[in-house]
Amino acid sequence: MTELHLWLRHETRSTERRTPVVPDDARRLVAAGVRLTVEDSPQRVFPASRYEAAGARIVPAGTWVSAPPQTVVLGLKELPDDPDRLPHRHILFGHAYKEQPGAEALLTRFAAGGGALLDLEYLVDDAGRRLAAFGFWAGYLGAALAVLHHRGSLTAPLHPTDREQLDRTLRAAPGDADFTALVVGALGRSGRGALAAFTTAGVDPVRWDLAETRDLDRAALLAHDVLVNCVLATTPVPPFVREEDLDDPARRLRTLCDVTCDVGSPLNVLPVYDRTTEWSDPVRRLRKEPPLDLIAIDNLPSLLPSESSADFSAALTPWLLEFRTDAGPWARCLDRYRRACHAYGLTEGRPGRD
Ligand SMILES: NC(=O)c1ccc[n+]([C@@H]2O[C@H](COP(=O)([O-])OP(=O)(O)OC[C@H]3O[C@@H](n4cnc5c(N)ncnc54)[C@H](O)[C@@H]3O)[C@@H](O)[C@H]2O)c1
Repeated sequence: MTELHLWLRHETRSTERRTPVVPDDARRLVAAGVRLTVEDSPQRVFPASRYEAAGARIVPAGTWVSAPPQTVVLGLKELPDDPDRLPHRHILFGHAYKEQPGAEALLTRFAAGGGALLDLEYLVDDAGRRLAAFGFWAGYLGAALAVLHHRGSLTAPLHPTDREQLDRTLRAAPGDADFTALVVGALGRSGRGALAAFTTAGVDPVRWDLAETRDLDRAALLAHDVLVNCVLATTPVPPFVREEDLDDPARRLRTLCDVTCDVGSPLNVLPVYDRTTEWSDPVRRLRKEPPLDLIAIDNLPSLLPSESSADFSAALTPWLLEFRTDAGPWARCLDRYRRACHAYGLTEGRPGRD
């Protein structure tokens, strides 16, 4: 039996319909003795009534600010700008350890309040592998949008949907699958998602991962009609596509979907664009002749909120059931937070109290 009091908060961003814990997993947590409080949220893909039926206490949105101090607040994305001091331990994607805009301000709020950021991106096993991630559905959506665009059947703006509906549009009509596709990073989470979407679309893509790019054959890469990039680069490698390749009349590549979206990073393998595309306008033409269109959306899983939440929640829940910050993955998260505070010269938050 754990004594964890977990508080699932409403997401600040109005388009964010995902949740890190779905009602079925809420039931598992409650059954295991977790005290679960769930904020009502108008946009969450699962209504509060489903959590209530699972045994959670429902409270108004944003009330985590006055939760008891030992509460662990759980969400996905950014916190609201208030309050200035954050006394709780928060589990979320903080985007605060790579000098992102707002990183120091967020860490300062935690240090001032004595709380701690337990960043989901840094919830890793002993070998450093992520324990919960949204990659699969990012890749699925990335490949699906690339296929739909390549066939001329992508309509904007994009809206959150479900897999059944997406797959209906994706299934090939005769002749639709008449193009070549390449997935790079095919062995990873998003790579596997991209392969699954191509399968639904009746397309059998070429699969590349580290072994195939070690000695990069750029001409072979550019000889595919559609490219879906799913790599997680950790060291700089030669770019897959360069500015000069865009002007190459021999280029066959027409649709480029960058799931990775490392735009602006020194690790970017596609340094041929300078800003991501949006749900409102998902495709940008990079070249007129020969044509090359880019899709680079950095919140793809939010387009399938139910499926991506269920997948993420299934991976996260076992670690919530094992929540402790003195050893294991949550201790690594806490340590990462402390090191980040230290780097900014901030006094660290209080240690975990479980
Ligand atoms: N656009 C979005 O909405 C979205 C959502 C989730 C994740 N992502 C991003 O997608 C990327 C992939 O995430 P993931 O969860 O699939 O990672 P992952 O670690 O599961 O897989 C990455 C794969 O890339 C391969 N790889 C690394 N360097 C390579 C190289 N030089 N050449 C070929 N293959 C290489 C790895 O071997 C691995 O198989 C990350 O950058 C992640 O931040 C984007």
